[in-house]
Amino acid sequence: MLSSVIRFTARASARRIALAALMGGALLGGAGAAPAVASNATPTSADAKPVYSDAAALGKLMFFDPALSASGKMSCASCHSPEHAYGPPNGLAAQLGGTDLHQQGTRAVPSLRYVLNRTPIWTHAQAASLSERLSETDNAPVGGFGWDGRFNYLHDQANFPLFNPNEMANKDPAALLAKMQRAPYAARFKEVFGQNIFADPTKAFTQAMYAIERFELEDPSFHPYTSKFDYYLDGKVQLTAQEFRGKKLFDDPAGGNCASCHIDQSGVNGAHPLFTDFNFQALGVPRNAELKVNADPKYFDMGLCGPLRTDQSDKLNCGLFKSVSLRNTATRHVFFHNGRFHTLKEALRFYVQRDTNPDKWYPRDAHGKVDKFNDLPVALRVNVDTTDEPLTRKTGERPVWSERDIDDVAAFLATLSDGYDLKSKAVK
Ligand code: HEC
Ligand code: HEC
Repeated sequence: MLSSVIRFTARASARRIALAALMGGALLGGAGAAPAVASNATPTSADAKPVYSDAAALGKLMFFDPALSASGKMSCASCHSPEHAYGPPNGLAAQLGGTDLHQQGTRAVPSLRYVLNRTPIWTHAQAASLSERLSETDNAPVGGFGWDGRFNYLHDQANFPLFNPNEMANKDPAALLAKMQRAPYAARFKEVFGQNIFADPTKAFTQAMYAIERFELEDPSFHPYTSKFDYYLDGKVQLTAQEFRGKKLFDDPAGGNCASCHIDQSGVNGAHPLFTDFNFQALGVPRNAELKVNADPKYFDMGLCGPLRTDQSDKLNCGLFKSVSLRNTATRHVFFHNGRFHTLKEALRFYVQRDTNPDKWYPRDAHGKVDKFNDLPVALRVNVDTTDEPLTRKTGERPVWSERDIDDVAAFLATLSDGYDLKSKAVK
């Protein structure tokens, strides 16, 4: 017990140090500090001068343009809905796309709010020796876009949905450029990037992806900081007793311990927290039968080690997914990379009862044994986190939170929804 406490503390403090660096100078220091950030940093504080380039304005038109898909009916915003914090507009585990809009994706749609200009570059500094790697102080993988961190730049990421057969399903860049030349903003595109831009397809494609990236980085709608929690941090409103109790449960290192990964402290320069550390973990989220790919018992989405990501051969990385921001999480109807849960409270219950009541979350195998961590091949289930609270309990032990605690944490997390109105004291 004691040794596990020491191990945990070491991990938490290592994380905090890494985070202090992340949230402090390096990430938000502005142009000079750009190397630490996946995309060029734009200032995020409310009083910073807004930047809005011509490229961003074009990128916005592209982001909302369904004509850029093979179906003619799907834009980036179909899945990343601005009315839903740039997250999914519905509770589907994965969205339907493709030429006929019937092709199901394989992962839940993440919210694009807050993280785009603050996601660090993917890094996984590997320790030299195995013993160091197995210790808690090893540098954990961090950063990059996607649940598996496989893209370092938004202009590379944008390539994926535009051509993915389950999403916007364009055949190739030529097909996309043909659509762009017919778009109402084609003339504007030429004004901004050169009258002959479409004569050079490679250059035109690069500029198109750049435009989307600029929109994602520059548009203030991606980081409004208008939640009750933001106003609380600014001293403009108090949390209710229930919300405050929920926050304490969320923070308690010996209890929920949520804040050790979903950071809720402001950065040293006062930057409001994003509720993620951009680290990767295997949480053992149960397999989701709602995903058609899962009909094949041999198919496993293993995050860092594939199938979408292909550059990580290290078996220790199998099953790890990126920790996501919990801002606006109370507005979602689908949770975790595979969309296994559809209410926030169920997601919270999973965290605290995964180990105390495994039969509630996992099916039984042919021998009647609970098939714990069933969304990973048996040999890789050792990768699932069983050392961070609250994921350390034994079957039959008391869950770290009661139903009332879960209500309180859910009430706290609801303070992270944007659009809080200080006058009516409600989310608009
Ligand atoms: C059919 C639904 C769908 C469409 C359309 C779609 N996306 Fe996504 N988006 C997703 C899913 C699912 C993920 C997670 C993908 C993964 O982890 O592999 C994602 C991830 C992202 C991310 C990474 C976010 C992060 O925090 O890591 C960005 C950025 C993004 N999408 C931008 C776009 C842009 C730009 C477009 C339009 C060109 C677009 N998306 C179109 C479903 C969609
Ligand atoms: C060890 C790090 C860690 C801890 C501790 C942790 N989380 Fe997470 N959280 C993650 C990761 C990683 C994911 C994404 C995992 C996945 O989808 O497979 C995640 C996902 C989530 C999601 C789903 C969000 C979405 O948009 O799909 C919620 C909600 C959540 N966490 C809440 C909590 C709460 C509440 C606690 C405390 C009980 C907590 N987390 C503790 C790392 C952590």
